[in-house]
Amino acid sequence: MHRPIDPALDLFAEIEKLKKKKMLSYLPHYYQNADIQDIADFRGDSLGLAQQAEKTTADIIVFAGVHFMAETAKLLNPNKKVLLPDLRAGCSLADSCPPAAFKAFKEQHPDHVVISYINCTADIKALSDIICTSSNAIKIVESVPLNKKIIFAPDKNLGAYIVKKTGREMVLWDGACMVHEIFSLEKIVKLKQQHPHAKVIAHPECEAHVLKQSDFIGSTTALLNYTIQNAADAFIVVTESGIIHQMQLASPAKSFIPAPPENTCACNDCPHMKLNTLEKLYLCMKYEVPEVIIPRILQKSTSSTETNA
Ligand code: 13P
Ligand code: SF4
Repeated sequence: MHRPIDPALDLFAEIEKLKKKKMLSYLPHYYQNADIQDIADFRGDSLGLAQQAEKTTADIIVFAGVHFMAETAKLLNPNKKVLLPDLRAGCSLADSCPPAAFKAFKEQHPDHVVISYINCTADIKALSDIICTSSNAIKIVESVPLNKKIIFAPDKNLGAYIVKKTGREMVLWDGACMVHEIFSLEKIVKLKQQHPHAKVIAHPECEAHVLKQSDFIGSTTALLNYTIQNAADAFIVVTESGIIHQMQLASPAKSFIPAPPENTCACNDCPHMKLNTLEKLYLCMKYEVPEVIIPRILQKSTSSTETNA
């Protein structure tokens, strides 16, 4: 949306007014820029936000995250108006699993239960039996009876990590997140030598050789909680850099070192997440666009989406 904004406006104050006036539920993911995380009453990882979206009584949900997350909020609470400040905020992982190809893949494994990670489109959710998040993936896989075979999609790295943790064999879809695959093993090893007391913490979307270097592996919220509860005073953070803001706020005396990507780019910033800005958020709340719409047929077939922890 390209509507002009009066440069004299205090956008923080205006957003506060709109939140009160419209009694909307504003849900930013931990990977958003600090300014739009700070003005929320609730912020979280995929699971936390999905649960919050499901239980909200507000008429409007303003979701600051990527498209599949806003889509999930709509699936869980279809009578609400769900807004996303920039509809182009996609996800490389969701894009790595096109529905037609996944349908054909599923047909090659007809007797398999399909578990999909929430980072996928509504079309993939409709082709799945169970949806998990990085917070509850292990628990969900363990809940499937041992005599059932499993397809896990779309993230091969999270899938391989679950296989390692549970000992369950699974057929993995070959998808990945561009942000979590960019970390340099060599640079992480060097950082560990420079900061021998720092704990390495990583998201399970990272590749196995990176996870092997880690002291703790967990979803975004689990990583945050670990930095609060662990006695270490320094952490090498191998995930999207947005979460470091919350880590620093929760533990101001500790230091957080972002793990470096392969090259000198800021590739550990998710370019999709960062499409949402304070200006777009203000316009979205004011004009109530752009709205996330899901065809009724997909809403029906995904109505049993599993988000319980
Ligand atoms: P979680 O929020 O489940 O940790 O997932 C991380 C992520 O990549 C979200 O896009
Ligand atoms: Fe998708 Fe990766 Fe960005 Fe998460 S961090 S939204 S998985 S591209």
